[in-house]
Amino acid sequence: MIIADPLTQTLILPDAEATTRLGQTLAPLLGNGDTLLLAGPIGAGKSHLARAIILSKLAGEDRVEDVPSPTYTLVQTYDTTKGEIWHTDLYRLGDPGEVYELGLDEAFEAALCLVEWPDRLGRTAPAHALSVEIALSGTGRRLTLSAQDPKWAALLATTAQCFG
Ligand SMILES: Nc1ncnc2c1ncn2[C@@H]1O[C@H](COP(=O)(O)OP(=O)(O)OP(=O)(O)O)[C@@H](O)[C@H]1O
Ligand SMILES: [Mg+2]
Repeated sequence: MIIADPLTQTLILPDAEATTRLGQTLAPLLGNGDTLLLAGPIGAGKSHLARAIILSKLAGEDRVEDVPSPTYTLVQTYDTTKGEIWHTDLYRLGDPGEVYELGLDEAFEAALCLVEWPDRLGRTAPAHALSVEIALSGTGRRLTLSAQDPKWAALLATTAQCFG
């Protein structure tokens, strides 16, 4: 784990199980109005991390459900007692204007949003989001977490402690 400044952090996740553990660590720290921008190449593990977060949130309500990839639907939503979770894969988004058609702009404020292919958002990307850039690293993954908004400091302190 390397800390370049308090709101940037690099984590090494040697296997898929480590990504699952990260999702389980993040889940209780995430709530309405939080957005994770999950960037990285095809097969990086964006859906894997999103799924681990969603399954952990649902498990907290004693729910076991399928968490399909939103590759074709663009958006999958999950209603929880604490609010909605939006899992989106914007790979097939035509232009950033569709963000408004999907209602994503409102979800960024009201729901927990997990966004794959966030580069498709252009300027509609929320400034208060946490960026999660996933890169291949040998047989594992290297994650760079970065944020502008100081609200993420506590979460980054936790991930540093658990994965540092
Ligand atoms: N830390 C890790 N080390 C090695 N493999 C991992 C790690 N995390 C996840 N994986 C694996 O990476 C694969 C890619 O999964 P995933 O479908 O989540 O990619 P993706 O980034 O969502 O791709 P796409 O852009 O096509 O949506 C899965 O088989 C998963 O088990
Ligand atoms: Mg995916």
